[in-house]
Amino acid sequence: MSGPADNGCLAGFGNEFASEALAGALPQAQNSPQQAPMGLYAEQFSGTAFTAPRAANRRSWLYRIHPSAKQSPFRALPRTLLTAGAFDGAAATAPDPLRWDPLPLPSAPTDFLAGLAAMAGNGNVTQQEGCAAYCYTANASMTETFFSSADGEWLLVPQLGRLRLRTELGILEIAPGEIALLPRGIRFQVELPDGASRGYACENFGQPFRLPELGPIGANGLAHPLDFLSPRAAFEDKPGRFRHIAKFQGRLWESELDHSPLDVVAWRGNLAPCKYDLRRFNAMGSAGFDHPDPSIFTVLTSPSPLAGTANVDFVIFPPRWQVAEHTFRPPWFHRNVMSEFMGLIEGAYDAKAEGFVPGGASLHNCMTGHGPDAGTVAKAAAAELKPDYLSGTLAFMFESRWVFHPTPFALATPALQKDYAGCWRDIPKRFPGV
Ligand SMILES: [Fe+2]
Repeated sequence: MSGPADNGCLAGFGNEFASEALAGALPQAQNSPQQAPMGLYAEQFSGTAFTAPRAANRRSWLYRIHPSAKQSPFRALPRTLLTAGAFDGAAATAPDPLRWDPLPLPSAPTDFLAGLAAMAGNGNVTQQEGCAAYCYTANASMTETFFSSADGEWLLVPQLGRLRLRTELGILEIAPGEIALLPRGIRFQVELPDGASRGYACENFGQPFRLPELGPIGANGLAHPLDFLSPRAAFEDKPGRFRHIAKFQGRLWESELDHSPLDVVAWRGNLAPCKYDLRRFNAMGSAGFDHPDPSIFTVLTSPSPLAGTANVDFVIFPPRWQVAEHTFRPPWFHRNVMSEFMGLIEGAYDAKAEGFVPGGASLHNCMTGHGPDAGTVAKAAAAELKPDYLSGTLAFMFESRWVFHPTPFALATPALQKDYAGCWRDIPKRFPGV
């Protein structure tokens, strides 16, 4: 069922939608009639196994001018984003915490795909398990090129500049503070309305992201399903020479088309790209003392087969009231069995006085001790604990049960900070001794 939405989008997470760019393009009463209206071809786009349980089953029917099979054979491109075996070098991954400055914006024309830099990853695309964390910097729109990934769904987190996402199922525009979720395999193109752009992406090889269960929180709070917006059908009937770059088993492959692949005139189903404004997240927190775990800020989760243990969670640290009494309020010192890749969209993060800036990133892997830096410890330990609104901040975390292995690029880039662990070196011994 489709719902009303402002800005013309379809509202709801995983809802069944129906949308047609031309009146009469959607067949009535059945999904695959002998002949679809207007000479269109019916094609099913499946995001889960045919036999997945009904509650998790995701698929849409696309009514398009050309079937997606109509393209030239693929040829391998020399560039790889991440090979399937890229994370097998686990022995080379040190347990040290890592932090990066923002990657510099390009000076030469660079589109989203050319400006993607894989920073870290885990799991294995051949097993449909794990995820990869990317940073992107770009200044040019994709024009004749379209991208898709059979390896996973893409969660896009812009930090600088809007992204106009032209997808097979319609157009979504997101600005910093919003995210987009693009289903595995969907073909899309990224336009940059603001020119120079930077941000983050998570490629989720595992089960599709879903809203987390709410448990004792009850029916309300965190992200509301109705705030996820999917596009209405939009198409172009455009002949020409186009490139489809497909990510498959960690490698990039190129195929040619004589038409734009954005030729879906109508679609129906519950597998669609969507976007979400992170300012709509209803943050919950302690109304007494002590910290809830940061999982209280989970926006989306990709479960793993182990209950309560995510393949990857998307967690945010949004503006919020802090009212806990008798409590060290910044994120505490901790060691986590899960592994944490973080980024900062705007402002400052309350666990770090300096060094973690918008567009930068950090990595704290399984059981790596981390927490507030020396300056934050000194300030927070002496702070007057009146109600305080934490404003002008928006950080996020890709948190995974699998250790993130930094890529060779991430370890070689000058953006890697040389002495991140030094931020804890000046924490004084306070114990007076006996
Ligand atoms: Fe942490």
